[in-house]
Amino acid sequence: MPADNPMSAAKVELGRHLFHDVRLSANGAMSCATCHDQARAFTDGQAVSRGVAGEAGTRSAMSLANVAYLPVLTWQNPQLTSLEVQALIPLFGEHPVEMGLAGREQQLFAMFKADPTYRRLFAQAFPAEAGQGEGGPYALSTLTKALASFQRSLMSFDSPYDRYRYGGQKDAISAAAKRGEELFFGEKLECYHCHGGFNFTDNLKHARTPFPEIGFHNTGLYNEDGRGAYPKASPGIVEFTGEPRDAGRFRTPSLRNVAVTAPYMHDGSIATLHEVLRTHYARAGRAVHAGLAANPLRSEFIAGFEISEAEIADVVAFLESLTDERFLRDPAHQNPWRNDARPTASTHPASIRPVP
Ligand code: HEC
Ligand code: HEC
Repeated sequence: MPADNPMSAAKVELGRHLFHDVRLSANGAMSCATCHDQARAFTDGQAVSRGVAGEAGTRSAMSLANVAYLPVLTWQNPQLTSLEVQALIPLFGEHPVEMGLAGREQQLFAMFKADPTYRRLFAQAFPAEAGQGEGGPYALSTLTKALASFQRSLMSFDSPYDRYRYGGQKDAISAAAKRGEELFFGEKLECYHCHGGFNFTDNLKHARTPFPEIGFHNTGLYNEDGRGAYPKASPGIVEFTGEPRDAGRFRTPSLRNVAVTAPYMHDGSIATLHEVLRTHYARAGRAVHAGLAANPLRSEFIAGFEISEAEIADVVAFLESLTDERFLRDPAHQNPWRNDARPTASTHPASIRPVP
């Protein structure tokens, strides 16, 4: 939690309303939840997401479970460290256009001011700002603080595996999942080197750790020319660091709830968990360009392995035991507009019109 944005129940509640509100988009039809759907652990089931203008991006929407513990955000930007800042990208970004609100800030604040639900929620969440100046509590800073607070409340710690591993419930997962756990944490598959810790990623920021852990790796997903070159759309963090050796390196995603977040990888290019193992990791990186030399930029932990279909089934059973059903249905995270003053055409400011 940043010092200037302590959590409060009122901020989380305001953030929940904002997160699910389609009026936060240029066509009045897209909210954060359109691409971050709770039932899919806050992903969208698409290989890559499309914004309000129908323009396809190049990245797959990411799960938001336990996002509070991540030191860096998104697949490949080592400089993006704050949820408050990140929220501005989907709202106002133009490459690609996601929610398309650039230039429409004043209409947005006018809508908040005109809506009795938002008047109440902003005043409760930001009492100090509510008394001040003309704009009152309606500002980009309060909007992003509330969205960040809501996202920090998205905690997933109640999967069968959690109950088995941390809750002492010996029968919470199947025998197959237990065999899969051994493979996952074993030296043949090496998965745990990158997908370790309580969030199954080597990216962790926590009050009790002295410094943040950050992990970007090249898993050999692409190798266009045998020298480690990449499709234009998949540069990895080299785009930000300018270091050639960073080509194809992406942030290790958490594997919590991974069974409901298909398709997989930064570009959604692998459809199933079975294929992640069979056609990607077992072959030391996906053999999309068969015949090319091994990728010299690939992580040393991606070395390939022999694995039987039965063993793959066990690893998949283990990954499935990371699904936290309570999280996927928790009413605290749901769309509040369903039972509340649902946005209608009449509360929708005329200036924020659907894009034809
Ligand atoms: C059009 C679909 C779309 C919309 C709408 C959208 N997102 Fe995303 N979101 C994505 C994609 C795609 C990524 C991965 C981006 C990347 O790596 O470049 C992402 C990544 C994120 C991440 C990073 C998660 C992580 O594990 O690092 C956060 C946080 C996030 N979005 C929050 C939001 C919020 C808050 C909103 C609403 C203000 C929102 N998103 C709206 C598609 C969307
Ligand atoms: C060298 C570090 C590393 C190792 C070892 C590793 N992974 Fe990954 N894993 C990553 C990175 C980085 C990504 C994202 C790659 C991308 O999108 O290009 C990823 C992506 C995934 C995904 C897709 C998740 C999603 O949300 O799209 C799954 C599933 C996965 N890994 C499972 C495994 C399994 C199972 C193993 C062991 C066989 C393993 N990983 C070994 C780093 C690693």
